[in-house]
Amino acid sequence: MEYPKSRKLDELKPREIVRELDNYIIGQDQAKRTIAVAIRNRTRRKRLPEAIRDEVSPKNIIMIGPTGVGKTEIARRIARLSNAPFIKVEATKYTEVGYVGRDVESIIRDLMGVAVQQVKAELAEYQKEKVQARVEERLLDLILPPTAAPVGQDTHATTREKFRTMLRDGAFDDREVEINVASRKRVGIEVMGQPNMEELQEAMQSLGSIFGNGKGHNRKVSIRRAREIFTEEETEKAVDTDRAIDEAKDRVEQMGIVFIDEIDKVAKSGGASSGIDVSREGVQRDLLPIIEGTSVSTKWGIIDTTHILFIASGAFHVSKPSDLIPELQGRFPLRVELNELKSDDFYRILTEPTNAITMQYRELLATEGVTIEFEDGAIRRISEIAWQVNSTNDNIGARRLFTVMEKLLEELSFSADELSGQTITITAKYVDERLSEIMKNEDLTRFIL
Ligand SMILES: Nc1ncnc2c1ncn2[C@@H]1O[C@H](COP(=O)(O)OP(=O)(O)OP(=O)(O)O)[C@@H](O)[C@H]1O
Ligand SMILES: [Mg+2]
Repeated sequence: MEYPKSRKLDELKPREIVRELDNYIIGQDQAKRTIAVAIRNRTRRKRLPEAIRDEVSPKNIIMIGPTGVGKTEIARRIARLSNAPFIKVEATKYTEVGYVGRDVESIIRDLMGVAVQQVKAELAEYQKEKVQARVEERLLDLILPPTAAPVGQDTHATTREKFRTMLRDGAFDDREVEINVASRKRVGIEVMGQPNMEELQEAMQSLGSIFGNGKGHNRKVSIRRAREIFTEEETEKAVDTDRAIDEAKDRVEQMGIVFIDEIDKVAKSGGASSGIDVSREGVQRDLLPIIEGTSVSTKWGIIDTTHILFIASGAFHVSKPSDLIPELQGRFPLRVELNELKSDDFYRILTEPTNAITMQYRELLATEGVTIEFEDGAIRRISEIAWQVNSTNDNIGARRLFTVMEKLLEELSFSADELSGQTITITAKYVDERLSEIMKNEDLTRFIL
């Protein structure tokens, strides 16, 4: 079922969120439900009277499951569905404050950056017509400067209107004009609060570009390019940045979602603790205040993290959630496990999701004029093979399907341009022919599939 594009995540009911996720992710019902409830709870919270609202804290979630079973995919889909600011980070990218690397507060700065962009884009969309009108006037000024003498008997105004129609029809697209590109890249050096290395570097770079290029110069460009440049400029002008920042801050604080991947990799590895474990614990410790609720200063102002929802995920092969420091465990009250995928799940993954893998290949080859059809038996066979390889070698979950499919269609992909106009049916027999040799030899399997 399709929702109109404007349906926003905070209007979706849990059942609807799950249904949306079902379009892309097979199984993993428990994880979908838990996330749907957590997201819905935030909408509910927003409806509470202020006094209670501040008491309700988000119920952070840890998703536990082997590699390639859909953890990141669920998060990615939630992000697409939502108008809630969303960021996905890898826990391993961060280091304890004071060490070289990113500090965890940059997560919140990045999240805010995402939100500002998002709101600006929405405002720009809202102002689109106004912007387009302004751009058109500016282009017309270039083609027919207001001071230009009237052409023939037409008045200046009539010529302008004629040109306007031609401009809209693209008649001037390739004409060269000279524009001033001074104001093009607005360099913002607004490092406030605690600057981190990245922001400083950014600032240094923009300084460099100011001194390097000198201020504003004229450039010859096509009308087509000038339209792009003007649109950028006019959009920037039309969008009320202060308003965008206020709105973004509100969304981050009330609806923001941070997805922390690979959380297991900063857990103790078990056994004797080493230097690495100490620094990993440092990252966990740094995360505590942000998850609990703290103020992070960003260049857009101070962000309160109390109501940001955190979803952590990890395979937890070596370590267990209980290897995380207790304070951190306690801040993730919800645990969901994702299941290992079996042959039947693979079959469904190959066929059911919108943009299923078989469909992707069909479309790819269709661009060469080749029609491929997968017989049901073939898809069964592919699923079995993927599952078999997963159980004899490393279990890499649904990612195995990609390697198997690549190998299966290698020959076809290579010679597709020569097969234009043909229809090729992939049968179970074809699958066996292409893959059984490899399957028989365990060493080969290890390398190829
Ligand atoms: N349940 C599923 N339904 C549909 N597709 C899936 C499912 N699980 C995995 N996939 C596909 O497999 C690929 C890998 O999945 P994903 O990135 O979610 O793995 P993961 O669970 O995050 O693994 P890791 O622990 O290695 O990060 C994705 O492209 C996704 O489309
Ligand atoms: Mg992942």
